[in-house]
Amino acid sequence: MKLIIYSVRDAERPYITAWAKKTGHEVKMVTKPLNDETIELAQDCDGISIQQTAKLGEIYEKLAAMGIKQLSTRTVGVDMIDLDACKTNDIVVTNVPVYSPRAIAEMGVTQAMYLLRRIGEFRKQMSNDDFRWRDDLISNEIYNLTVGVVGLGNIGGATAQIYKALGAKVLAYDPSYNVEYEPYVEYTDFTTVIKSADILTLHTPLLPSTENMIAAPQFKMMKKNAYLINMARGGLVNTADLISALENHEIAGAGLDTLADETTFFSKKVSPDKVPADYKKLAAMPNVLITPHVAFLTQTSIRNMVEISLNDVAAIIEGKHSRNEIRM
Ligand code: COI
Repeated sequence: MKLIIYSVRDAERPYITAWAKKTGHEVKMVTKPLNDETIELAQDCDGISIQQTAKLGEIYEKLAAMGIKQLSTRTVGVDMIDLDACKTNDIVVTNVPVYSPRAIAEMGVTQAMYLLRRIGEFRKQMSNDDFRWRDDLISNEIYNLTVGVVGLGNIGGATAQIYKALGAKVLAYDPSYNVEYEPYVEYTDFTTVIKSADILTLHTPLLPSTENMIAAPQFKMMKKNAYLINMARGGLVNTADLISALENHEIAGAGLDTLADETTFFSKKVSPDKVPADYKKLAAMPNVLITPHVAFLTQTSIRNMVEISLNDVAAIIEGKHSRNEIRM
């Protein structure tokens, strides 16, 4: 069979080449994402692997007309895919839910520690040859803090385990209960998590029900010393309300690996006029840390994303099932 893999980065190529050699399947590598313009590249292929946060466009009927029966995304999130259109066009969707929960969990904890220990401010101070100890930069230690985890799936669960190991009290909100995480968290309701957390860390998918789940009312309920950490999807947080909350000192700071409007500039080198004003405002704040959606970017993740996704493409084309099929 012949597969096409979109959004390929150089680091993925050796794993793709090794997979093709092992399985005997042909894999066409394309650096661009899948959209209305690039769909034609899949014309001679049996199956597709993608990796992007940008919406795919009006491609679904075309895919069906081309005889393509599946879409495999090398991501956890599937919010860029129109699942209704996939269902209508009999396209099976798979994701890679467990390429490395630790990769994202560790980035979230790293960002929280960076903010908590005021590393950004110290770096700035030292770059001005100012080596003073400042009373306004006194920190708290994690084992004295309460961490609130919103979304206790694989990544939220891994995050909870790390904070628990560091001695924090960990509260969690998730509509579904998972006994596996019982030793690490105290399950509670959303509002209690918001009100109690010194570190509020988001690990929930972007759905109509979770969009803007952290907005002005939630910021007003949060502790003034709390840090918001978003490693999941930008759309979970209302960006304008976040900026207001930071400007009005309703929260202490934010660590963000994702922003609501990131698809126009994250993962690209862009000219200054292409950088959204919201990003510029946030990035200028000393208590905000932004990374360009790279929490996933570890060697383990890259290998697993490629291998699991391509295995799923092949399995679905061969008429088998994958445990990673999205229920639609
Ligand atoms: C995901 O796996 O859902 C991510 O957010 C990372 C991906 C965009 C590479």
